Amino acid sequence: MGKDVIIACDFASAEETLSFLDKFEGKKPFVKIGMELYYAEGPSIVKEIKKRGHKIFLDLKLHDIPNTVKKGMAVLSKLDVDMTNLHASGTKAMMEAALEGLTRPDGTRPMLIAVTQLTSTSQERMEADLLIKEPIDKVVMHYASCARDAGLDGVVCSPLEAGKVHDVCGKNFVTVTPGVRFADGDKGDQVRVMTPEQAKKIGSDYIVVGRPITAAPDPVAAYERCISEFVG
Ligand code: C5P
Repeated sequence: MGKDVIIACDFASAEETLSFLDKFEGKKPFVKIGMELYYAEGPSIVKEIKKRGHKIFLDLKLHDIPNTVKKGMAVLSKLDVDMTNLHASGTKAMMEAALEGLTRPDGTRPMLIAVTQLTSTSQERMEADLLIKEPIDKVVMHYASCARDAGLDGVVCSPLEAGKVHDVCGKNFVTVTPGVRFADGDKGDQVRVMTPEQAKKIGSDYIVVGRPITAAPDPVAAYERCISEFVG
């Protein structure tokens, strides 16, 4: 499995996204399309970016009854994305149904990864709002194990959790980690961050990087710096 840098293309329109990607000329970075862009532009933006030769992580975080998620995933599998995701809190039955829906008639499918507890959820809110009383890292590892048992490929997690996820679920279980910042960069609203180099050391398989690349004066140079710190 190849380590790679995934650029979070958190733009509001196809126009903005494509002019950002135009800057990369011959390079074809792995791109994350999230809810904002997908809800604004629909499947056409996925098809356009795919046509340009990029790999795509479609970050829509599905969470519904198993049958609905299965059917939704069957539609997404036709978009030929490389990676997509769901919430592990939908239960193993939902994750198994998702895998079934995502698998194409020829047996191939995009990678499927799970969100455990969102990094925006604190211990306090999890206890008060979700009535989950266990320590949050135990909850994260349990959800990761459920995702592995359901046959998923990995989880989205904080880079700080990536090492432990590998210890618990095996080194081939993929960790996709946002919350990455350059040592000399602005943290923005991210709290628990790591540099690409630290994320590499701790064993992240893919880092998801948004603003350190998209808001950089020279996005291509910032992307290349990420690649050389994380992959090279
Ligand atoms: O701009 P920045 O590098 O903070 O972007 C990180 C990307 O990863 C955003 O698209 C954000 O929604 C996503 N993400 C995150 N933390 C999570 C899950 C996803 O930052 N726990």
